[in-house]
Amino acid sequence: LIFDGMALPPFLPLRENAEKRFMEIRNLECRKDDIILATYPKSGTHWIWEVVCMLIKGNTEYTKETKEFFFLEAIPDLDVVHNLPSPRPLNTHLPYRWLPKQLTEKGGKIINVIRNPKDVAVSMYHHLLSAGEFNKDFTFTQFMETLFFGPVCTMGSWYDYVKEFEQAAENDRHGLLFTVHFENMKKNPIDETKRLAKFLNVEASDKFIEDIVEKCSFENLKSADKTIKDQSIMKKIVGIGPEHTRKNKPNMYRKGVIGDWKNHFTVTLNERFDRIFEDEMKNSKLHIHFE
Ligand code: A3P
Repeated sequence: LIFDGMALPPFLPLRENAEKRFMEIRNLECRKDDIILATYPKSGTHWIWEVVCMLIKGNTEYTKETKEFFFLEAIPDLDVVHNLPSPRPLNTHLPYRWLPKQLTEKGGKIINVIRNPKDVAVSMYHHLLSAGEFNKDFTFTQFMETLFFGPVCTMGSWYDYVKEFEQAAENDRHGLLFTVHFENMKKNPIDETKRLAKFLNVEASDKFIEDIVEKCSFENLKSADKTIKDQSIMKKIVGIGPEHTRKNKPNMYRKGVIGDWKNHFTVTLNERFDRIFEDEMKNSKLHIHFE
């Protein structure tokens, strides 16, 4: 399914009427203290969302609601969001131009996570493979040629996505857009979590920050994942999980490392990627960390 130049993930609200849901999100009634986590898929959404929730709540209990509960394009009924207490940690994979107008025009905080596109591609390949979208004889190189470099890929091109956010960050006069790099978070989680706390105006002791980092390590989040899902308030209250049309539930916690692309890219593919990257990013000041 394609909308506005983007191949859409298989969430039912998008399958049924993508334009309707995109417009609903664009016109969402926002509050001044809303926080929206905006990520290109496979950039570390689940991880950063959990960190943000812990900072807001002021404790390190795993958030019982699944991320999808607030996932604007996946939740069955967007009205649910209207009844959430403030501050609402919302999240979306929609590009900047589709974020709620009220949020981008009137204020409300945006956290944008950027991950290097080679690892994003590898992570997406495994995500789709584990979701049963294609089988094992569809190689990573084939995936890159047909889907990632293709005219439309999931949520559109990675380049368009990050360049739109870079532009928005340049125009951000009020310090409402925060950028976090997956790689910095991985290498320096304490400092990055402190930066996030400051952005969110959360008073956080060193101990609290250390506890969050520990609870949100890859290993701990991976093992907590199942419990979190079982306790999902979404399942309890709404009676349903995020509905989508995939065969299997994809694995969200796979390796959690920087540079797994080196195990997947052939020399030829890598050279081709670097040429495209250089051309696409020639006017960008973003520093992307590949290792
Ligand atoms: P890999 O497939 O490379 O392992 P998203 O949540 O946006 O779908 O992103 C998923 C990616 O983030 C997966 O990448 C996943 O392993 C990684 N991830 C999740 N939690 C992490 C953590 N605490 N530390 C490092 N990476 C994490």
